[in-house]
Amino acid sequence: MSAKSINVALIGSKFMGRAHSNAYITAPKFFDLPLHPVMHTVVGRNAKELEAFARRWGWERCSTDWKAVVRDPEIGLVDIGVPNDTHREMAIGALEAGKHVACEKPLADTLDNARAMVQAAKKAKKSKTMVWFNYRRCPAVSLARQIVREGRLGRIFHMRFFYLQDWAGPDTPLLWRFQGKVAGSGSLGDLCAHSIDTARFVTGDEFVQIIGATMETFVKERALLAGGSGGEISGTGAAKAAKKGKSTVDDATLFLARTRGGALASFEATRLSTGNKNGNRFEIHGENGALRFNFERMPELEWYDATLPKHLQGWSTINVSDGAAGHPYAHAWWPVAHAIGYEHSFINQVADMMGLLAGKEIIAPLPDFNEAYQTQRIMEAVTLSAKNRCPVDLSEVK
Ligand SMILES: NC(=O)c1ccc[n+]([C@@H]2O[C@H](COP(=O)([O-])OP(=O)(O)OC[C@H]3O[C@@H](n4cnc5c(N)ncnc54)[C@H](O)[C@@H]3O)[C@@H](O)[C@H]2O)c1
Repeated sequence: MSAKSINVALIGSKFMGRAHSNAYITAPKFFDLPLHPVMHTVVGRNAKELEAFARRWGWERCSTDWKAVVRDPEIGLVDIGVPNDTHREMAIGALEAGKHVACEKPLADTLDNARAMVQAAKKAKKSKTMVWFNYRRCPAVSLARQIVREGRLGRIFHMRFFYLQDWAGPDTPLLWRFQGKVAGSGSLGDLCAHSIDTARFVTGDEFVQIIGATMETFVKERALLAGGSGGEISGTGAAKAAKKGKSTVDDATLFLARTRGGALASFEATRLSTGNKNGNRFEIHGENGALRFNFERMPELEWYDATLPKHLQGWSTINVSDGAAGHPYAHAWWPVAHAIGYEHSFINQVADMMGLLAGKEIIAPLPDFNEAYQTQRIMEAVTLSAKNRCPVDLSEVK
């Protein structure tokens, strides 16, 4: 490994395996990176599939033995893109071997496992930890944070976060995403974790109380997949099997929260919101202005300036793609309004990860294990509030 490169081992080769591989390939082409990711080894469970994956995406080697790979002295960064119940073992194994770790969200399936990961990260003094809350790196979301930090909203009264998808109808089989023992939760960890992280990232505010929450499992049984692999979302066509198994996660989560800054926040996450495909949205309302974002219109940030004379007030739409205007990440991409998409949030994250590991200033802060643990605490408080039908103070959830 040269001084200006780092060998990466990626564990997982399906949805996030593709998103992360593409990001390692593309980030060095568009950003002037202080440290180059070398696509050293990809790890999975099926050797034959993995060889084809490695050839297609340019990984130098592949392996079905993650324990050996995380100990390989050539590896500098271990990237975990597998289901949530394996994050703990893999992350701690990599940290104990002295590696940097980038882990997919949510940090873990349970709060206990997430806490163990934070403790291991504290012990591994030379290792840096990062979590793939990639939506922070949509330029419009980063700009929203900047606008709040510039004080343009003034005191924030309301935040409204909703993450709406509709792929989880009764015909969708029992993927790992519906298995509580593997995923930990459903809509909460899959979707709402992103919204909670985005709320904390954009406003810089902390949650102090979950006022009330409800979680619903609409589809209680789903067709078992052949081989029980619980594969990726794109496997939804395979729901013809006669045998069914229980879905043990929430299809939808709704909750209300109060923040330290005195704002009220509402959250809704569902995978059964017919007509919404990837509606990751938010609205934030302050005394001097308001912001609106909808990932389905990724380049756009809506802004309402309540300090203008009344007759000029109205929502304006900023196309957040102007490098010359200082829009976050835009300098690396195409001319203004030549839109970028989903994959760029991951590419932007790789650029920031390489900057962080090289000790450089990065564009938007990267959440480490401890910060992702704060999101996991909020998820736990939501679950307790829904279960016990009562408010939960965050101070009670350690
Ligand atoms: N940041 C995002 O926007 C985003 C989007 C989707 C998923 N995720 C997260 O990424 C993670 C993976 O989700 P996905 O959608 O890629 O799942 P997926 O089902 O598409 O792929 C999972 C991969 O993990 C591999 N795998 C499972 N167990 C393994 C093991 N023990 N050893 C080695 N490989 C193993 C599978 O073979 C497969 O390659 C999850 O934590 C999920 O919450 C994040």
